[in-house]
Amino acid sequence: MSAFSYENKTPIISVNSVSYDYRNSQGESIARGVRGIDLDVYQGEFVVLLGHNGSGKSTLAKLLNGFCVPDEGSVTVAGIDTKDDLKIYDIRSKIGMVFQNPDNQMVAAIIEDDMAFGPENLGVPRDEIEERITWALDVVNMSEHRKRSPSKLSGGQKQRIAIASVLAMMPDVLILDESTAMLDPKGRKEVMDTARMLNCQKGMTVILITHYMDEAIEADRVVVLDEGKILTSGTPKEVFSKVDLIKSAGLELPIASKISSELIALGYDIPFALTDEELAEGICKLKSKI
Ligand SMILES: Nc1ncnc2c1ncn2[C@@H]1O[C@H](COP(=O)(O)OP(=O)(O)OP(=O)(O)O)[C@@H](O)[C@H]1O
Ligand SMILES: [Mg+2]
Repeated sequence: MSAFSYENKTPIISVNSVSYDYRNSQGESIARGVRGIDLDVYQGEFVVLLGHNGSGKSTLAKLLNGFCVPDEGSVTVAGIDTKDDLKIYDIRSKIGMVFQNPDNQMVAAIIEDDMAFGPENLGVPRDEIEERITWALDVVNMSEHRKRSPSKLSGGQKQRIAIASVLAMMPDVLILDESTAMLDPKGRKEVMDTARMLNCQKGMTVILITHYMDEAIEADRVVVLDEGKILTSGTPKEVFSKVDLIKSAGLELPIASKISSELIALGYDIPFALTDEELAEGICKLKSKI
């Protein structure tokens, strides 16, 4: 993935000093969601959110599309404050979310009917909905399934339809909240390839929440959450080279980073590696020196 240029870019999403707690019906806090989050996401950026279970990743995602509103601080999407009730549909139409379980995201018996729900709710005219469905199915390479039932699809195909349903709403930002977690390696690859293509070729902003470190290595930026706060953020190399910090957050390193950092700790003169290719190159250079 080519380096993302932040020059002359304005954020599509701005999270300013945001805290949020889950509350009971009496308004008493029952769980910490997030604390003091500051985060700008730029149009066209590919951001990966990492963190152990309960660190606040999904809460942050729900704050971005206005599903949760901050107790403190503010979230703006394309300049619209998520607290502005009158504009909540504008925000929902700008931010598309795909979740973990593909089966919970489909309601209709036929794929094209399922995909029509979102744009219908946004008041899109019928003929434009048809055009959007045709386009979105083409983008995720699922056009031939249009008249089929979602129940006949594989997990990876279901998630691609879930992405297409979100695309039919023409969002600026696609949030994938552990959308590959229930998939086999082939399904994971299908979804990741689709997300990368949307980012690279269509310029879509992608926020990917994952427990798979290998999905983070091609991101423009990695943000690590811990106990509801941002522990660190930066390019994948900047973040994963903080080996002890990453481990303290209960996270694994990508496999090449793990091996290279262990070799470095053993005294071998190789560079810190993010990808398998970098690791192989480092080891080959080392061998030629011996
Ligand atoms: N609906 C809810 N009601 C009460 N507490 C909640 C609710 N959703 C999340 N929490 C709590 O808020 C905290 C942050 O949860 P969140 O779901 O944002 O974490 P996460 O990083 O997405 O975790 P995971 O990796 O397990 O999906 C946790 O302590 C969780 O138990
Ligand atoms: Mg979650």
